[in-house]
Amino acid sequence: MLEAASARRNITLAITGASGSIYAQQMLRLLAADARVEHIDLVASDSALRVLAEELNFSGRHNLVEKLLGSASKKVQQHPDENIGANIASGSYPADTMVILPCSMGTLAGIAHGLASSLIERAADVALKERRPLVLCVRETPLNLIHLRNMTLAAEAGATVFPVMPTLYNQPQSTADMAQQFVQRVLAHIGLSQPGAYIWTGA
Ligand SMILES: Cc1cc2nc3c(=O)[nH]c(=O)nc-3n(C[C@H](O)[C@H](O)[C@H](O)COP(=O)(O)O)c2cc1C
Repeated sequence: MLEAASARRNITLAITGASGSIYAQQMLRLLAADARVEHIDLVASDSALRVLAEELNFSGRHNLVEKLLGSASKKVQQHPDENIGANIASGSYPADTMVILPCSMGTLAGIAHGLASSLIERAADVALKERRPLVLCVRETPLNLIHLRNMTLAAEAGATVFPVMPTLYNQPQSTADMAQQFVQRVLAHIGLSQPGAYIWTGA
């Protein structure tokens, strides 16, 4: 687990076009509700918007924050993925952690090979060069050798590969339960442990 920062946190959340929109929604909800989080930079790729439409019936690219949270949030600043001039594209901007949830194999490849061809890839590249935490919640099955090698490259460069794999030993009753448990694990990993999160006691 990463050390919890004493200052209020500045988190980047990127959503890419892998399956798992409910995980991204749950992550944004918990981050927005967390008093330890001061600011959230949110970026969704075009493919993410397509998957959001398929999985959560969202249409269009506008008002994504309102759609995900149910209302606007002053904490959340959304950036177009084409805007490579956004704050998070520069190492001088004090982002402290970046989470990509879900992370497609395409975005994983772009990060692993340093392409920086979109804001998401550039912000991830910045996180790696600045030695800041970068959590890649990859989602694909089965995995080909390219996927596996790209995960290795990203991990060697400093990223945490955190596959979207919900647990069953906590007996989830719904997809929302599964998403919540997984997102709570990611948040604990970045130093934002959530009250009430499931903890295996071994009893
Ligand atoms: C409904 C749907 C589900 C998809 N699920 C996945 C997935 O789980 N993993 C993945 O790597 N790509 C998945 N894709 C394909 C990606 O969206 C596609 O490769 C895209 O180019 C990724 O772009 P991005 O990385 O810029 O978001 C899915 C596409 C659609 C339409």
